[in-house]
Amino acid sequence: QADLKTKKIGKRIEYMEQCASTQIVAHQLAQEGAPDGTVVIAELQTEGRGRLMRKWDSAKGQGIWMSIILRPDVPPHKAPQFTLVAAVAIVRAIQSVTGLQASIKWPNDILFGTKKATGILTELQSDADGIQALIIGIGVNVNQEREDFDAGVQDIATSLRLESGELVNRRELVQEILHFLEIYTELYIEKGFAPLKILWEGHSATIGKAVRARMSRETLEGIAEGITEDGVLQLRTADGKLHGIYSADIELK
Ligand code: BTN
Repeated sequence: QADLKTKKIGKRIEYMEQCASTQIVAHQLAQEGAPDGTVVIAELQTEGRGRLMRKWDSAKGQGIWMSIILRPDVPPHKAPQFTLVAAVAIVRAIQSVTGLQASIKWPNDILFGTKKATGILTELQSDADGIQALIIGIGVNVNQEREDFDAGVQDIATSLRLESGELVNRRELVQEILHFLEIYTELYIEKGFAPLKILWEGHSATIGKAVRARMSRETLEGIAEGITEDGVLQLRTADGKLHGIYSADIELK
């Protein structure tokens, strides 16, 4: 903590050996009034969770399992943009610590090739006055070997160690993630989403590609043309129609 370069994010850090999920702890702390920028980190999560109620494998000491409480003064419909801002911050942090160049699959996966190294889960506490807190959950696979992943995900998951061939310093990576997250959230608050959208598209594995978008009711195939100012994915199907995708599983074809 002493080495943090940030002014706000990470000034309060709750570090735990173990918890069910840092998301649950962060929700609780946010409700109790924890300040903007509070960070919850655990060595081990027994019930790490991902998007769409999925389980997130969070083995002891091998990854970064953390949740960040932000209290931005923006309307609730802008919350998804923070997932994209966080993704850009993580890609830049990974690059700065390891030299590795990751890409972002809309909305929240950080990939090497087709394998996932990081997931982001943004949750919202809001009331009639707007956003009370955003809880940004970040899970980075850092030092896992292939055998450390559950058999079912070994072919779709990767870690920074597997990609770089070296052990990666988790402490340094946390510092860099918080540093870039602060820089980019400040940029966002000052200038809006437009400059972040350009950065995000620059790191995107999705834009310009043929994709399949699986949604709860239907599946669409087409070309991912871009994202809107609200972070909505724009998909052009073969009949020429442009569809706004708010939530889906994206498969690169
Ligand atoms: C996803 O890709 O579906 C999102 C995964 C998010 C995982 C992180 S690990 C820290 C935080 N606590 C959780 O239980 N989930 C998030």
